[in-house]
Amino acid sequence: MKVLVVGGGGREHALCWKFHHSPSVSTVVCAPGNPGIARVARCEPVGAEDIDGLVSLAVREQPDLVVVGPEAPLVAGLTDLLQRKGLKVFGPNSEAARLEGSKSFAKQLMSEAGVPTASYERFTSVDEALNLIRRWGVPIVVKASGLAAGKGVVVARSVEEAEAAVRDMLAGNRFGSAGHEVIIERYLEGEEASCLFLVSGQTILPLASSQDHKALLNGDKGPNTGGMGAYSPAPCVTPEVGEAVLEKVARPIIEALARYGIEFIGTLYAGIMITEHGPQVLEFNVRFGDPECQPLMLRLRSDLGEVLLAAAEKRLDGVELEWDDRAALCVVVASQGYPGVFEKGQEIRGLDAMEQEGVIVFHAGTAERDGHLLNAGGRVLGVTALGDTVREAQQTVYRALGHLDWPGGYYRTDIGWRAIAREEGSA
Ligand code: AMP
Ligand code: GLY
Repeated sequence: MKVLVVGGGGREHALCWKFHHSPSVSTVVCAPGNPGIARVARCEPVGAEDIDGLVSLAVREQPDLVVVGPEAPLVAGLTDLLQRKGLKVFGPNSEAARLEGSKSFAKQLMSEAGVPTASYERFTSVDEALNLIRRWGVPIVVKASGLAAGKGVVVARSVEEAEAAVRDMLAGNRFGSAGHEVIIERYLEGEEASCLFLVSGQTILPLASSQDHKALLNGDKGPNTGGMGAYSPAPCVTPEVGEAVLEKVARPIIEALARYGIEFIGTLYAGIMITEHGPQVLEFNVRFGDPECQPLMLRLRSDLGEVLLAAAEKRLDGVELEWDDRAALCVVVASQGYPGVFEKGQEIRGLDAMEQEGVIVFHAGTAERDGHLLNAGGRVLGVTALGDTVREAQQTVYRALGHLDWPGGYYRTDIGWRAIAREEGSA
């Protein structure tokens, strides 16, 4: 079959790479793709936010399946438009995508469905928000309600910081209309994990567990980013935690959507804090995580084309996923300065030598000019490997990174530390 993948980041490179290796898939087309994706797919120069352009491309290409990588086109209604053209899509329609597109909708649905999450209030007025901050005290969490590329959340340790975040979002227009409503919620203490599910109607299939490092600096310090690295499995997601997230989070939220007549087909991503009172939801996303997708695709043994087509055709019931027992780990290399300002157009070398160490280098923000590979975005590469343990996968990735020749590249040197501490503690 022919698959069209929408997007051009590390997640989409991992998806295209997996489709390229799927026996059921003969042709992979990606819009817009990137230079890494071009090795495993035909790239078409249509941006992931160019909804009309994507619809025209899909109508022209007539793929058997469209897989939408990023959230923005889902929230904008790409799936709805493609389905109206008779195409099969893996990725939720715009109503279901509100789970990610509107934090206030997600919070409301969670409270109706009894899904455990931090208590919260929503505000459009600075003064009322500040009142709550003074009443609740710190630490406290301030979130822009709309999409902000993973950067619209401030975990404030001081009242001043919380107040500044509220003023930035509500009065300062920091995230445009995404920040014109803010959610303020209680701070949750614990370890985070990413619990992803393939969903098709009422069928919910858990993917292997994973954990993402959202913070910029070693030790999970510094500002939040889109994700600086990830690994799978996440040992903190014990079978009991996994079961609790399926039965107390995923199932009730999908049923709550169904009560509004909203059907979900796609990936449900529950960002979880494992607290002493059990798993609590930090956020929902409606797509694969980036970078979680990269280690997951290395571990997935099933034919991705068959599985996602089954989901799009509502035949997911009875499908079982097969996983490599080994661990996989991905380290993101970002442009120095990300998530703030950074310079583009620097040459990146050494990728062939890196791949000879047994890693796969997924491209995210790269571009090619006159045969030279350049950085073209914040997160640039996702260096990913399998290993018998998380420690082994980590060693392979960092050994390979020794061959990276790009002085302007930055990466954390401790991805996987929590899992490794557990592995070594129990060894
Ligand atoms: P979100 O985009 O909502 O997942 O938030 C981004 C990050 O902020 C999460 O991965 C957590 O590290 C942190 N965070 C969000 N909400 C909370 C909370 N209620 N308590 C503690 N940390 C949080
Ligand atoms: N890695 C976090 C996300 O994809 O939202």
